[in-house]
Amino acid sequence: MLTTQIAETRYDDTEMEKAVIFRELVPEIPSTTYATFGLYKYPAKFIPQVIAYALRTYSQPGMSVFDPFAGYGTVGTVARLYGNNYELWDLNPLLKYFHSVSVMRPVKLDSVGLVRDMRTYEKHFEPDWSNLAYWYPENFLPMLHKAWGFYHSLEDGELKSILLIPLIKATRYFSYNDEKRQKLSRSPIARKRTDRLECHDWQDIFFGQILTGISQVLASLEEYQALEPNETVKATVRAGINGLSSELSQNHDILITSPPYLQAQEYIRASKMDLFWLGYSETEIKELSKKEFPYQQVPIIPIHSPTYYNCLTDIKEPHMAQLFEQYFCGVLGTLSHVQANISKYLLLFVGSATIRTKPIPLDHIFMEHFEALGWKHEVTLVDTIVARTMFFYDKNPATQSRDRRMSTESLVVLSKT
Ligand SMILES: C[S@@+](CC[C@H](N)C(=O)[O-])C[C@H]1O[C@@H](n2cnc3c(N)ncnc32)[C@H](O)[C@@H]1O
Repeated sequence: MLTTQIAETRYDDTEMEKAVIFRELVPEIPSTTYATFGLYKYPAKFIPQVIAYALRTYSQPGMSVFDPFAGYGTVGTVARLYGNNYELWDLNPLLKYFHSVSVMRPVKLDSVGLVRDMRTYEKHFEPDWSNLAYWYPENFLPMLHKAWGFYHSLEDGELKSILLIPLIKATRYFSYNDEKRQKLSRSPIARKRTDRLECHDWQDIFFGQILTGISQVLASLEEYQALEPNETVKATVRAGINGLSSELSQNHDILITSPPYLQAQEYIRASKMDLFWLGYSETEIKELSKKEFPYQQVPIIPIHSPTYYNCLTDIKEPHMAQLFEQYFCGVLGTLSHVQANISKYLLLFVGSATIRTKPIPLDHIFMEHFEALGWKHEVTLVDTIVARTMFFYDKNPATQSRDRRMSTESLVVLSKT
């Protein structure tokens, strides 16, 4: 359990906004990619220090925390370090896979033997993916079918969990997908990479990457263990569910989440290559995409924020206004529904966003809405992002100027009155 005490960081009640650098407030976690936090670059992942700071400041061991948009599952991984029970939800089925490996106990494993067995495995796994050939050089496909055949032949358990992230990463590296973009997209740079691979002993490179990946996973599990996670906390993980139509099975003390972003995010599209290889069908993935906020068609609900209506009036393009409404009705609809089961704090980590260069103060809209529902705004902590993989459009489609959609992120702290 993390117990290091540092200088008191609570703020004067009259100061409603405060600039902070979360990384510096939590020296117990030495970097944003420490332990299992950096095993996979999930888009717009929480840095662990934000949650560590929040739990250290607002929770006690034994309290329970809930994240309805859990993504990679960072809230659960940190909650164990502070002795908090937790419940995680996400539309993306990957949550279940990533979280289970992130909190595993270290294991001893003959990784060379495992990779040798994988390399000689003969049975194919065929993903239900009509566009498969568009994404990979033909030469690589038989190797990928067999490697995933081996993965699917394993029984659910530690071995399979440890193998997954290295296999996902190598499978992406051997595709035409541009690694630098969060969304799945082909590019000349990716094409050059696969052309280069084809000139070498690419089978050696592929299985070498998996072997290295396994060592990285094992080392990260040791690091996580050194942070002394509590093994007895109660955890509930529900992946592949739509937050808007889901019910909490129990009450929680604290809700902490970073909701989907208003624009330029497509988590399911970014994950679909991994989901196909994991065995999700084309129909299942399409259905998931339709439920993602802000693309899900949702009923209009009252948003208790004058700032929201001011922004909406200013948006002239009907399709942008519709996206804006769908976003808030989906995200605030989900949060408004579950807040009734939260007894102490709502901690909402939101970015700043723009629509056609007009700033949308998400933190303010969220704050106004929850104040109207009876929550008290304690403080907003504004973090300056130093190094973060965020989604940016290179060019704003309307203005053709370079568009900085996110520069700061804020933790809005609301307490139950
Ligand atoms: C900003 S990310 C959360 C990242 C997370 N904090 C982490 O540390 O990885 C927002 C998440 O909302 C999820 N999401 C989008 N629409 C959803 C919906 N309708 N129901 C549940 N989750 C949804 C996305 O899949 C994405 O993982």
